[in-house]
Amino acid sequence: MITLPQYPNLHLVDHPLLKRDLSILRNKKTSNVVFRTILHRATRMMAYEVCSNLDLTDTEIETPLEKTTGYVLTEEVILVPILRAGIGMVDGFLDFLPDAKVGHVGLYRNEETLEPIDYYSKFPSTLDSSLIFLLDPMLATGGSASAAISFIKDKGGRRIRLINLFAAPEGVRKVSGAHDDVQIFAAALDRELNASGFILPGLGDAGDRVFGTD
Ligand code: PRP
Repeated sequence: MITLPQYPNLHLVDHPLLKRDLSILRNKKTSNVVFRTILHRATRMMAYEVCSNLDLTDTEIETPLEKTTGYVLTEEVILVPILRAGIGMVDGFLDFLPDAKVGHVGLYRNEETLEPIDYYSKFPSTLDSSLIFLLDPMLATGGSASAAISFIKDKGGRRIRLINLFAAPEGVRKVSGAHDDVQIFAAALDRELNASGFILPGLGDAGDRVFGTD
């Protein structure tokens, strides 16, 4: 995991297999079917890394030969995909955290103002006591993620990690400025945003590519 001095809240997962998969996601020739498959695989790699410092609790277990110490995860985890594109990351996390609960927050960007508009939210009742992974493949202006984090905090959520694949510096700055307590995990820090708020070089619109709505 790489941390850059200018972005202390950002943790970049650095792995050759992930870089290979991000390239497939970036490629405009990648079909929706392949995009979904690779998004799932890349998310699994993110999940593995993001979970690397989860706390464990000892528990006594019995092997066929003797008693020994086993381990269970101490904390309950809640996954919160930002609709729509975040849905494409849920199963990759559930592969490793099958007991995780899943909340949802629905936001879309007004294409002219780029301001996030909320249209749906539903969270498990254990939000205040759980570790929350907020999922979205893209962090562009950071408006959606900042708004989603504010929503979750309003509902009682306290410990939040933001998980993205492609992040723009503008989005990292916005989220870090608004929510200094939230650590951001991403697979790539891209160059910049274009005038329409898309990440460059980026991957286009992740939601459209997941769901074939382009
Ligand atoms: C995309 C993306 C993020 C958001 C990032 O969603 O999935 O949620 O934009 O942009 P921001 O950092 O500037 O807020 P979009 O609004 O296109 O909605 P969709 O997932 O329904 O396609």
